[in-house]
Amino acid sequence: MSDRINEGTNSPEELAKTLELYKLMLDCKPPKGEQAAFKEKVAKLIAATEDVVLNKEGARAAYKEASNCKACHNEHKEKKPEAPKP
Ligand code: HEC
Repeated sequence: MSDRINEGTNSPEELAKTLELYKLMLDCKPPKGEQAAFKEKVAKLIAATEDVVLNKEGARAAYKEASNCKACHNEHKEKKPEAPKP
């Protein structure tokens, strides 16, 4: 879904739904890392998404940065347990 937002091919309904999901994420506890840092990232993401809704200039670039999957996962998502070494 966010791929389409980046490309600008999303529908307004999709965008509204995405925004709602992000707002739900605000109350989620990340499995890893600082809750405050996580909240900050999600808040940034929400702000960027709202700017895309308003069609602000540069909003899509900001969204792209805020929705950086890997950056957030590295800090806040649990890694899969590694296979035990023999
Ligand atoms: C603001 C931080 C943040 C951003 C940005 C983010 N994620 Fe996540 N994501 C998480 C966290 C935290 C989890 C772990 C949730 C849990 O386990 O409760 C997660 C889990 C996931 C999962 C589930 C994986 C699993 O093992 O269950 C998928 C799929 C996923 N993210 C995809 C994405 C994609 C694709 C993007 C980029 C478009 C993205 N995420 C951006 C924080 C983020």
